[in-house]
Amino acid sequence: MINGKTKVFGLFGNPVEHTISPYIHELLYEETGYDGTYNPFHVREGKLSDAVRGVRGLNLKGVNVTVPYKVDVMEFLDQVDEMAKGIGAVNTIVPIHLDDKTDYILKGYNTDWLGLSMACDYEGIPIEGKDIVLIGAGGSARAVAFMCAKRQAASLVILNRTLEKAQEIKSILESSFERMTDLGQIPIMVGGLDELDLVKKGAVVFQTTSLGMHPRVDRTPLDEDDFFHKVDFIVDIIYNPKETIFMKKGKDHGAKVANGLGMLFFQAVKAFELWTNITLDDDQLKRVFGKLEKFVYEK
Ligand code: ATR
Repeated sequence: MINGKTKVFGLFGNPVEHTISPYIHELLYEETGYDGTYNPFHVREGKLSDAVRGVRGLNLKGVNVTVPYKVDVMEFLDQVDEMAKGIGAVNTIVPIHLDDKTDYILKGYNTDWLGLSMACDYEGIPIEGKDIVLIGAGGSARAVAFMCAKRQAASLVILNRTLEKAQEIKSILESSFERMTDLGQIPIMVGGLDELDLVKKGAVVFQTTSLGMHPRVDRTPLDEDDFFHKVDFIVDIIYNPKETIFMKKGKDHGAKVANGLGMLFFQAVKAFELWTNITLDDDQLKRVFGKLEKFVYEK
């Protein structure tokens, strides 16, 4: 029940109709007993600066940002976290209180990479010391690339239909090595989707394209048996369907696979943590994630 003390959170996007974030955050409130409410806000074209002013004006306790505003929102914030700057996208706005407690600044974070990182731990997907293959070079791919450097992967191969976009991620990441000393300076190679000789045996693969997503579930960025032979772990950032063709092929060849629901869940958990300073223990995470899986796959 909402009352006068309920803390208000939200999501800025356009459109926002299909989001399941309110459901995830309500589950987190229920699990922790936190008195919060999470609301989708449809921010129309050209209204993003008004929306961010609204965070200040209405004393919102935190806001997520989704398509198409993750990049543009940065210019309206007081501060942006270094990883979010590198990735070039903010999906979480956090009010940070200054010393006198009455005034605060708005700081932007990227919890996509944090969520992905937590999801990998949760699902038993290793990163440190592993050869990573990243398929795709869009917004999600940048979060994966930075996570791999942050977590000291052994190497990164980026395969994409458009080579220039893979090259761009490589340049952005490499140019961040000097500024961000906590990143591992991992070797990065790029290639087209057919350059499978770049893939090392035992690789961990992140599939970040939209190929295979509902309703066109028959599509996959790669189909070659030679590729799947070499791969030990697969994370597909798609969560609908529960198992993409890409995941199925990996599984048939003996790889351990995970879909994108973990990433979606843990980016919300991370945002909740940043906003409330409340950390859920493993049992709580398991319970909430179980409810989310039921909601998404059994409704
Ligand atoms: P997001 O921000 O969610 O990562 P995006 O920026 O639209 O999404 O990126 C989509 C990715 O899927 C890109 O890597 C894109 O390849 P291109 O850079 O060549 O456009 C990839 N992709 C989309 N449709 C594809 C297709 N039919 N074949 C191969 N790759 C495709």
